Amino acid sequence: MTSRHLALAPVTFEAGDLLLRPFDEDDEPAVAEAMRDPGILRWAAGQAVLEAPEAERGRRWLESRITGWEVGNAVLAVTDIAESSDTAGGALLGAVSLRDVNRIPDQAVTAYWVTPRFRGRGIGSRALDAVARWAFTPSIGGGLGLHRLTLNHVVINTASCRVAAKAGFQLEGTMREEFVEPTGRRHDSHLHARLATDRTPEG
Ligand SMILES: CC(C)(COP(=O)(O)OP(=O)(O)OC[C@H]1O[C@@H](n2cnc3c(N)ncnc32)[C@H](O)[C@@H]1OP(=O)(O)O)[C@@H](O)C(=O)NCCC(=O)NCCS
Repeated sequence: MTSRHLALAPVTFEAGDLLLRPFDEDDEPAVAEAMRDPGILRWAAGQAVLEAPEAERGRRWLESRITGWEVGNAVLAVTDIAESSDTAGGALLGAVSLRDVNRIPDQAVTAYWVTPRFRGRGIGSRALDAVARWAFTPSIGGGLGLHRLTLNHVVINTASCRVAAKAGFQLEGTMREEFVEPTGRRHDSHLHARLATDRTPEG
């Protein structure tokens, strides 16, 4: 299958007081700031960012997320709609992504981060729920028509476990020594999943 077949059309949508939209080059300063957070760097930035010099980490993270739509990865900036007078949204609150869309038919893998000063307000769980609803919406309704979404988090990342549970991603099991840090330290990870047919979380 070529990347042409995998390409996704970039989308912008609202979820309550959040606006989710594709990243662009103007997000670089805010993403660079986020990449200075030890939690994001450790659990959510990815190997390529970790290997980059600190001054280049924001740009490195952003590059492949802007172009990701062309190869089946939908990466959305989470912003505050109240601060927005247009579709650009306000301050960057976080990111939520669906990667490998349809690599396995009707499935994708989610990931997320929230900038430190906006944590603890339900932004991670609401953004994840919003992206799941969009992913499960039939394509005729503007969604992706997927059936199953999964996510992994290291077992010690209890905040991420709460985000998953609040967004309706049920715990399916523990994957032993699934996550390896650059130091070589291995971590067990939880596998969570949400199906299109699962009950929608309230709130
Ligand atoms: C995990 C993360 C996305 C949570 O974002 P958030 O917007 O604060 O999430 P929410 O407000 O929706 O929910 C956070 C939940 O975790 C809980 N929590 C936060 N820190 C916690 C901790 N140290 N231990 C246990 N629970 C914790 C909060 O109490 C809340 O649960 P509650 O609603 O039941 O009280 C954010 O902390 C983050 O970006 N971390 C670094 C990157 C990361 O780990 N990404 C996920 C990789 S799998």
